[in-house]
Amino acid sequence: MTNFKIFAVTVAATFISLSAAQAGDAEKGKATFIHKGCYECHGFEGQGGSAGLRLSNTQLPEDGLIAFVRGTSGAMPPFSSKIISDAELSDIYAYLQSRPKPADPKSIPLLAN
Ligand code: HEC
Repeated sequence: MTNFKIFAVTVAATFISLSAAQAGDAEKGKATFIHKGCYECHGFEGQGGSAGLRLSNTQLPEDGLIAFVRGTSGAMPPFSSKIISDAELSDIYAYLQSRPKPADPKSIPLLAN
C-alpha cells in the first residue's frame, strides 16, 4: 500500500513538472520580446505602436500566435524557428497574457457620458 502511495505521488509530481515545463514563462518572455525586436513595432508592453497592433491580452490562442509569427506575409516580417523557437514564443505568449487588462471605459469619468 505504501509503495502504491509513493508511486502515485511520483506520477503526480511528474505530470505537474511536465505541465510546468510546457507553460510559457512570462519573465523570460518579456526579455525575449525585447531581444527579438517585437517591441519595436508592438510596444514594450505589447500595447501597440505606430507599426504593430496591440498584442497584450490577445484573443488569439497560443498556437494561433505561433502560426501567425511563422506564416505572416503581410506588413509583419515572418520569424522562422531558426530565429525564434516555439518555446520562446510560448514565453512571449505568457508575457502578453500577464499584462494588465485595459480599464473598462465606463470606469473613466470623461468617457462615462
Ligand atoms: C516590423 C514591425 C514588426 C515586428 C518587428 C513584429 N511585428 Fe508583429 N505585427 C506587425 C504588423 C504590422 C502586424 C499586423 C500584420 C497583419 O495584420 O498582416 C503584426 C501582427 C502580429 C500578430 C497578429 C495579431 C492579431 O491579433 O492578428 C502577432 C501575434 C504578432 N504580430 C506577433 C509578433 C511577435 C511575437 C513579434 C516578435 C517575434 C513581432 N510580432 C514582431 C509588425 C511587427
